[in-house]
Amino acid sequence: MAGPPHQGPTFIPLPDYREYPPDEMLSRARAFREQAERRRTVRSFSDREIPEGVLEECLRAAGTAPSGANLQPWHFVVVRDPARKAAIRAAAEEEERLFYRERAPKEWLDALAPLGTDENKPFLEAAPCLIAVFVQRYGTAAGGARVKHYYAVESTGLATGILITALHNAGLATLTHTPSPMDFLNDLLDRPESERPFLVLVVGYPSEDAVVPDISRKPLERFTTEFGAG
Ligand SMILES: Cc1cc2nc3c(=O)[nH]c(=O)nc-3n(C[C@H](O)[C@H](O)[C@H](O)COP(=O)(O)O)c2cc1C
Repeated sequence: MAGPPHQGPTFIPLPDYREYPPDEMLSRARAFREQAERRRTVRSFSDREIPEGVLEECLRAAGTAPSGANLQPWHFVVVRDPARKAAIRAAAEEEERLFYRERAPKEWLDALAPLGTDENKPFLEAAPCLIAVFVQRYGTAAGGARVKHYYAVESTGLATGILITALHNAGLATLTHTPSPMDFLNDLLDRPESERPFLVLVVGYPSEDAVVPDISRKPLERFTTEFGAG
């Protein structure tokens, strides 16, 4: 049976586009780049609370991400409850123990070696907040029918990138954590089967003695190519 007829699109003037003079454009681009360069993944967190409202603003920013067919196929679960954080830590450490001791191929362990990571994840309890990100593989219409999602993983990746950048911009540190596998998050956080855990973002202030691995980023020429004009 045919569904309701599709409504045609309606259009509005571009709501809030701002053009900057070229020199301001460059200084803005440079300031953003410098700010982005200061972001580092932190693995040692203070238990200081995050000021009221900051997380919500950053999550709103994440929700502005472009998405396939505008289906916004992401869900963010904010976890501050100590008991739930402890349960996530216990489940993650169990998976990670198996990962580091049995599942991970040598090549993967070699790639991780410069980071000094291991199966212990104290930050999952120490940090004041975890944000579990889920990809909605498909949606559910009002009548219960499945709604196909397009580019759900790509879209959720973009939203998560904006979230990480927004948190960094607000002065918070993050750790992108991907226990492998992480299906346990559906149970612990009451998320439906239609959603797949994407990653866990650990959020807070870095501990005073936080250190980070001395690693480098590729220079521009090594990760871009260009076809210039003529
Ligand atoms: C998809 C993804 C998964 C990651 N998973 C983990 C993880 O499980 N544990 C961890 O300690 N770091 C993890 N990281 C953080 C990376 O190790 C880190 O981003 C990388 O070493 C570069 O360091 P930087 O973020 O300080 O520039 C992950 C990063 C990404 C993007």
